[in-house]
Amino acid sequence: MENEVFERGTWTSKLGFILAAAGSAVGLGNIWRFPYVVGENGGALFLIIYLIAIFFIGYPVMVSEMAIGRKSNKNPVGAFKALAPDTPWWLAGALGVLTGFVILSYYSVIGGWSIAYTLEALGGFPEGADFASVFGEHISNPGTVILWHGVFMAICVSIIGAGVVKGIQRAVKVLMPILFVILVFLVIRSVTLDGAGAGLEFYLAPNLGDIRLQSFTDAIAQAFFTLSLGMGAMITYGSYLSDDDNICDSAGFVLGLDTLIAILAGFAIFPAVFALGATADAGPGLTFMVLPEVFSEMPMGGFFGAVFFLLLTIAAVTSAISLLEVVVSWMVDEKGWPRKKAAAVLGTLIFFVGIPPILGYSVWSGFEFLGMDVLDTYDWFANDIFLPLGGLLTAVFAGHVWKAKNTAEEANKPKGNISVGSIFGIMIKYIVPIAIGVVMVLNIADKF
Ligand code: PHE
Repeated sequence: MENEVFERGTWTSKLGFILAAAGSAVGLGNIWRFPYVVGENGGALFLIIYLIAIFFIGYPVMVSEMAIGRKSNKNPVGAFKALAPDTPWWLAGALGVLTGFVILSYYSVIGGWSIAYTLEALGGFPEGADFASVFGEHISNPGTVILWHGVFMAICVSIIGAGVVKGIQRAVKVLMPILFVILVFLVIRSVTLDGAGAGLEFYLAPNLGDIRLQSFTDAIAQAFFTLSLGMGAMITYGSYLSDDDNICDSAGFVLGLDTLIAILAGFAIFPAVFALGATADAGPGLTFMVLPEVFSEMPMGGFFGAVFFLLLTIAAVTSAISLLEVVVSWMVDEKGWPRKKAAAVLGTLIFFVGIPPILGYSVWSGFEFLGMDVLDTYDWFANDIFLPLGGLLTAVFAGHVWKAKNTAEEANKPKGNISVGSIFGIMIKYIVPIAIGVVMVLNIADKF
C-alpha cells in the first residue's frame, strides 16, 4: 500500500496542481502552433471561432477530464475502467495513450528546434540575414535535429522518472512568470515596429468573407491541443488532485492563462510579420522565422533571443512531460512497471517514432499524404482526428455514461468560485459531442 502511494503521489500544495496543469497547457501550442494556425486561417475571424471553441467546448471537456481523473484516481485507461467496469470504454483511454505517444514524438522535435535556436541566439542573430532560409537549413539537417530531439526527450524522461510531484511542481513555479514577462516585452517591441498596423488589422479585424469549413476544424483541433485535452493528460493530472482543490476554478484558471498567452503570442508575431514583410501563412516555421528577425534588429537581441527560446524550451518541457506522464502512468498502473523503467523505455520508443518527421525535411522530402509532409501528417492525425475524437468520447462518457450529474458533483467539490450545473449538463451531453462530431465528419469528407 505504501509503495502504491509513493508511486502515484499527490500534488503537495494547492498551487501544485494548478501550476502543473497550466504548465501542461502552456507550451509550443501557444507560441509555435497558435500563430501559424491563425496565420493559415486568415487571422481575426479564426481568432473568434477559436475563442468560441475554447469556452464552449474546451471548458466543459476540461472540467470533465479533471473530474474523471480525481474520482477514479487512475491513468486514462484505468479511469474509464473504474467508472464503467466491464464495458469497452477503456478503449477511449487507450486512444489517449496512443495519441500522447504520437504527439510527443513530434512535439519533442519542435522542442529540439527550440533548444537549437537558444544556442543560435547566444551567438547573435545576424542582422539582415534571411531567416526563412536559416530555418530551412536548420530543419533539413537531420543530424543536429535528431541530436536536439534526443536531448529534449532525455530531459523529459529524467523529470518523469523522478516522479510527478518533485519534478513537475518545482520547475513550473519559477519559470512561467518569467516567460510571461518576456512575452509582454516582445509584444511591446512588435507593435511599435514601423508598419505594425497591418498586422494588428490582420489579427483583430475579422472579415466575414473569409469563412471556411477548415477553420472550424482547425479551431477545435487547436483548442484541444493547446488545452491538453482529448488524450487524458488532464485525467492523469486530475488523478493526483486532492479533494481540497476545486476543479471548476482550476480549469477556469488554466483556460484563462493559456488563452492569454496564446493571444499575446499573436500580438508578438503578427505585427512583426507585416512590419518585416514576411507572410502570415508560412506554416510551422512562422515563429522560428519571424522572431529571430525581430531579435536581430534590437539592442542586445542575442541575449533576449536566447532567453526567449530558452523559456520556450522550458514551456515545451512542462507540456511534454504531461504527454509522457499519460503513457508512463498507464504502464505503471496497469502493467506494474517501475516508473523509471517505464519512462526510459517509452521515451526511447517515442524518440524513434519522432525520426520520420525530421527526415521529412530532408531525405524523405518526397513523402506526401493529402498534400502534407510527415510532420504535418502526424500533426493532422493527432490533432484533427485523435484529439477531437478523444474529446467527443470524453463528453459522451461524462454526460451519458458516468452521467452529467455525477461529473458536475465531483467538479463542484469542494465549493469554489465557479460551479457547474444544468448548462454544463446540456453542453457536455449534447452541444459538445454534436459540434465536434459534425465538424469532424465534414472535415474528413472534405479531405477525401
Ligand atoms: N498543450 C500543450 C501545448 O499547448 C500540448 C499538449 C497537448 C500537452 C496535449 C499535453 C497534451 O503546447
